[in-house]
Amino acid sequence: MATTEPILRVADLTMHYQTRQGEVKAVDGVSFDLMPGQILGLVGESGCGKTSVAMSLMRLLPDNARLIRGQIFIGGQDLLAMTEDEVRSYRWKRISMVFQAAMNSLDPVYKVGDQIIEAIEAHDKDVPIKESRERVASLFQLVGLEPGLMDRYPHEFSGGMRQRAVIAMALACQPEIVIADEPTTALDVIVQDRILRKLKDIQRDMNMSMVYITHDIAVVAEFTDRIGVMYAGKLVELGDTIDVFNNPIHPYTSALLSVFPSIRGEKRPLTPLEGEPPNLIDPPAGCRFHPRCPYATEVCQREEPPTVRRGSHWADCWNPLGDASVLSQAGT
Ligand SMILES: Nc1ncnc2c1ncn2[C@@H]1O[C@H](COP(=O)(O)OP(=O)(O)O)[C@@H](O)[C@H]1O
Ligand SMILES: [Mg+2]
Repeated sequence: MATTEPILRVADLTMHYQTRQGEVKAVDGVSFDLMPGQILGLVGESGCGKTSVAMSLMRLLPDNARLIRGQIFIGGQDLLAMTEDEVRSYRWKRISMVFQAAMNSLDPVYKVGDQIIEAIEAHDKDVPIKESRERVASLFQLVGLEPGLMDRYPHEFSGGMRQRAVIAMALACQPEIVIADEPTTALDVIVQDRILRKLKDIQRDMNMSMVYITHDIAVVAEFTDRIGVMYAGKLVELGDTIDVFNNPIHPYTSALLSVFPSIRGEKRPLTPLEGEPPNLIDPPAGCRFHPRCPYATEVCQREEPPTVRRGSHWADCWNPLGDASVLSQAGT
């Protein structure tokens, strides 16, 4: 059987922000693969570095951001080693993003359709205007918007309609990978659900790969193939969605899940999450989660945790949950 290569490979990504108060260690040693056609959910409390990972993947970082180390391979090419010109031919075309503040990513003074046409023309100047308009019309249809709305202004759109338009814009150049950063957070639950379903249908039809970012782990349960859990700048657990839900290895993941009944409907031990995520200028030594962890032992305060695995499901923890006999330490 042919082995499939990941469409996106992130290796040891480490990115800090320089501030007057010191270095914010926002992304620290994050590694994961995204396979073609797969949806990876990236979850974790606010401030744990999810958007920073996404912006690194787009190479759209603010001036105070410093890439310390790591690689981002898209179809075998290292995005971080590319020139700005090379990045421009990748961004939006091979990898695109629906931003967290999507409400603000439409310019109020231009018609919505014209903004998408501009995105198409930025990558392909030779597309005749008639064809661009046809493409926008079919993108509108794809996301569930009446094509006639393309000649309207953003203020004539509801929140849900604007969100759909922003998704259409992210799809305009038929990217292989779409990053969706909390794309529905500002919307009410019913609209949120509808847009998620639409996004999932499009993903399946276009065989796109997707990184879906959210602070709400319940949202990704039925929607993702794999889940990565971030805590304080680190990816602490990664596995197939069903495994992460049913048998979390990291106590942090278990705490995030404790408010939801498991997929199988059984009761889980309740480990409510107390306290706040740490300040990333001076994160705790050892395991960054130790001050909040009900299972923390002395070693957790001193040393970085080892990676433990159950098949393709892993977590970084000194005191992993579940049957220790089926867990193996990486490299052993
Ligand atoms: N431009 C910036 N300058 C300095 N610190 C930043 C900047 N952007 C984000 N941060 C900090 O980096 C950390 C991670 O933030 P972010 O990636 O936005 O997390 P999330 O998306 O998970 O909420 C936070 O501590 C945040 O305050
Ligand atoms: Mg964010």
